[in-house]
Amino acid sequence: MKLDRRNLLRTLGFAAAANRLCSDHAWSLSTSATLDNQVSAIARGPLRPEYHLLPPHNWMNDPNGPIWWKGHYHLFYQLNPHAAVWGDMHWGHAISPDMVHWHHEPIALAPTPGGPDSEGCFSGSAVVFDGKPTIIYTGVQNAPPAETTLHDGNDKLRETQMLATAEDDELLHWKKLETPIIASPPPGMYVTGFRDPCPWLEGNEWYLGIGSGERGIGGCVLLYRSHDLRHWEYLHKLVQGKPNGKVAVNPCDSGEMWECPDFFDVNSHHCLLYSSEDKVFWTTGEFDAHRHRYIPMRTGVLDHGAYYAPKSFLAPDSRRILWGWIRETRPEAEFAAGMVRRNGPSESAHGES
Ligand code: FRU
Repeated sequence: MKLDRRNLLRTLGFAAAANRLCSDHAWSLSTSATLDNQVSAIARGPLRPEYHLLPPHNWMNDPNGPIWWKGHYHLFYQLNPHAAVWGDMHWGHAISPDMVHWHHEPIALAPTPGGPDSEGCFSGSAVVFDGKPTIIYTGVQNAPPAETTLHDGNDKLRETQMLATAEDDELLHWKKLETPIIASPPPGMYVTGFRDPCPWLEGNEWYLGIGSGERGIGGCVLLYRSHDLRHWEYLHKLVQGKPNGKVAVNPCDSGEMWECPDFFDVNSHHCLLYSSEDKVFWTTGEFDAHRHRYIPMRTGVLDHGAYYAPKSFLAPDSRRILWGWIRETRPEAEFAAGMVRRNGPSESAHGES
């Protein structure tokens, strides 16, 4: 017998949550006693959010590629389908008519064995190009030491920028380009990271910011330009942070790596968000559209809670909506214990099972 999530929550007296977390197929649960107990304990958890979008199970981090397409909001997110801790990053996917009621969909992007994203599909963005929703994301793979760009004390990986196009209007099937659209950081730069592409359109040209940084110099955003999202020319740093004297094994902790940049105009000014030192920083300032350099004038911390790696998009009514990841503040051992081990439709990329 199978029990879906809606019924499970109803049984447990969580009707309101069930309406919000409407997932008919993603939560087809086996009724083994252990699994039931485990899932009930998770569903009853007093810290489990009811309004915020959660993955069907296991670990999520950054929101990825929010986009409105053909009458629906789509939100993708960093997902580890196999455990309630970070690792083996996939893109989870949920669809909503109103950004409150969500329906879980099969995984949108999964690592391709032997490919440039074999070790994970990291964060990125979705835009519409040539009438097609297109994802630009960071793929990670193992590589010889000279080619690795991510060294955080745990992992040593090569990061490259990847592209995938939607094959249907529900955005369920994505076709990846086999080779990276940007294969390495600018020559001569020894970067602290090279990830989380954020594209935008100016006139007929696309621009792309990539989160990066250098030891002893600070975090930065690298700027690229393209006509077709497939061929990119490196221009220069859109903006450069300052050294702050902090030293840490993980450059994200010292502020020498800026993750998840998000850059957009607001009321004829520009805003850059980036995540570093466990915080999200906002800056507003002037963007010199001829030289393509951004000069931050004011800066601050976006949120003093557990908010991280936000990503914005333009809703069809022209509101800029910002999604962020609310992190667990419990010790890892506690939330890792909530792991659900099972195989179901939501755990495999669409088309696999
Ligand atoms: C931020 C981040 C990103 C990266 C992703 C990997 O939380 O580290 O820089 O793309 O998470 O899951």
